[in-house]
Amino acid sequence: MDKFVINGGKFLSGKVTIGGAKNASLALMPATILASGISRLSNTPDLRDVTTMRRLLETMGIEISSAEQTMTINTASINSFEAPYEHVKKMRASIYVLGPLVARFGKAKVSLPGGCAWGPRPVNLHVEGIRRLGAEIELEAGYIIAKAKRLHGARVLFDISSVGATGNVMMAAVLAKGTTLIENAAQEPEIVQLSEFLITMGAKIHGVGTGRLEIEGVDELHSADITTIPDRIEAGTFLIAGAIAGKRGGSIRLEKCNPHHIGALIIKLEDAGATVKTGTDWVELSPMEKIAPINATTAIYPGFPTDMQAQWIALMSLAGGTSIVTDTVYFDRFMHVPELVRLGANITVKENIATVVGVRSLAGAKVMSTDLRASASLVLAGLVAEGTTEVLRVYHIDRGYESMEKKLQALGADIRREQGEEF
Ligand code: EPZ
Repeated sequence: MDKFVINGGKFLSGKVTIGGAKNASLALMPATILASGISRLSNTPDLRDVTTMRRLLETMGIEISSAEQTMTINTASINSFEAPYEHVKKMRASIYVLGPLVARFGKAKVSLPGGCAWGPRPVNLHVEGIRRLGAEIELEAGYIIAKAKRLHGARVLFDISSVGATGNVMMAAVLAKGTTLIENAAQEPEIVQLSEFLITMGAKIHGVGTGRLEIEGVDELHSADITTIPDRIEAGTFLIAGAIAGKRGGSIRLEKCNPHHIGALIIKLEDAGATVKTGTDWVELSPMEKIAPINATTAIYPGFPTDMQAQWIALMSLAGGTSIVTDTVYFDRFMHVPELVRLGANITVKENIATVVGVRSLAGAKVMSTDLRASASLVLAGLVAEGTTEVLRVYHIDRGYESMEKKLQALGADIRREQGEEF
């Protein structure tokens, strides 16, 4: 298992290009199941999770090829309607095949995802939503078994505005007979892009980008092409790298990103003392002299993203005071805290609230990655920790960041990938 070895204290500056959005690709790829034919997804990132999704779709008889960040997907010969545990246990987003399979083929057998590093992540909203559209769904031996002659329109109200459940139910509804109303729908940019892709395929969806989606089912969809939006969480992670380790008097410039998708983070970074300039597809950050302690509470889009919570805590670890970071989306997503404490941070967690008392400096140590964004926060801390930090098990990073160490090296960081110890 690879590790990153970071010698802290180097100042970052320069340009970094942001890749395609992981969480858009993981929805767009299964959406192609809804039509027979060839779709092209450009700006698809080269990530471990994208490879996992690709392997899953290929087990269903879908032919996929990639060249120059464009993924070509041929769904003409699907011959399996299953998502086996071996795949789903690696990546929860595999459940995105459920809605499209039931909608197009009237059947699906999808493993329930296991928990993840930070606790149980239920899929009840996915199941209940597709059940309301008329599917018969049984849970048997760890699998979701779904059947439907033809789905019918229905009114679906989510207790929680779930990204995945919104995507799954929307993909089921586009081929249902009649109209579906989804209320309290997720409005994340990745779901907006999924809606746009489905409309390009011939779906009829109204209310895109709002919490209320009205979907008029159609009999058939056709394949289509789309360019994946930039990854707002990769962008946010590099902005925080620029704040925590940026050369004072210098700047870090993100190219090929969408500033509108990271508005909440930009405001927080300005409150913390950074100077941020934005353009149509770029963001430039000049770091603050001193990091001001700024509280953050995560929320559904357009609020402060839960996927930036760990990275924000890393930055606040070096603030000139105490800040409170609350996660209202996942109440137990703090696996990064004990590892940051090993680097000298002063953080305590009570329920879903972290109290971060800023310290003057961090000291390098061996730390363990537990999940994608937690690992990113350890890398950010390692960039400024005195001495050497080893971040172990960086396959977590490779799930959602393309060549993170190479992009950081190009900005001036002293970071290298090494073969780690086998555990
Ligand atoms: C998506 O996960 C993202 N993953 C996550 O990003 C992100 O953290 C999350 O949305 C929240 O923004 C992908 O898009 C592939 P949810 P998802 O359903 O869809 C509860 C990353 O780092 N819930 O919006 O699984 C759930 O427990 C990953 O890139 C139910 O109770 O998230 C959570 O508390 C990590 N029942 C809340 O809703 C359900 O059926 C939001 O989860 C579904 C969700």
